Amino acid sequence: MDWENVKESCLRCTECPLCDTRTNVVFGQGNPKADVMFVGEGPGENEDIQALPFVGRSGKLLDSMLGEVGFFRESNIYIANIVKCRPPLNRDPFPEEQEKCIRWLRSQFLLIRPKIVVALGRIAASRIVDPCIKITRDHGKFVYKKGTWFMATLHPAAILRNPGHKEAVKHDLELLKNKLIDIQESLSCIVF
Ligand code: URA
Ligand code: SF4
Repeated sequence: MDWENVKESCLRCTECPLCDTRTNVVFGQGNPKADVMFVGEGPGENEDIQALPFVGRSGKLLDSMLGEVGFFRESNIYIANIVKCRPPLNRDPFPEEQEKCIRWLRSQFLLIRPKIVVALGRIAASRIVDPCIKITRDHGKFVYKKGTWFMATLHPAAILRNPGHKEAVKHDLELLKNKLIDIQESLSCIVF
């Protein structure tokens, strides 16, 4: 399936009970040819209404922090979530819901083929980086899995709750930027 087919099918998905309470499916946003993909946990209220990921308060903070290191959803990154429909009252998505929905993220990943995937927060980190991850201990560490680098950082909502986390995320994003430069340089075929 190509990108548009996957997106169209996802927008009609009724594979789990979250379809009953959603306003919109939030497929994702950004450049499907991006080298870096960010993955959050699931849409909140604003995302559900606007059908776009990370557009509420934590999304604004994320955009501004990404912008500081040269990442923009309009150009060089892609942003998606583990579940595409909002869990009621913003509860954590249940494991069964994550298991049903992960096929869409998998399709996005296979079509984008990003060089680096960054998990935002505990739910995404434990689903796509390492089930045993402890985000306060392991954020900013790169893990290589079958051709792709993975890294987790704290969720922007965690920074809003505790501004003391901001420096850690800033540092992780600097590491991300440098990692991408390293990868791009190592893939460059110009040798003189
Ligand atoms: N939090 C998330 O994890 N994802 C969004 O899209 C918005 C808030
Ligand atoms: Fe389908 Fe995912 Fe929405 Fe569940 S959360 S209905 S699996 S798109």
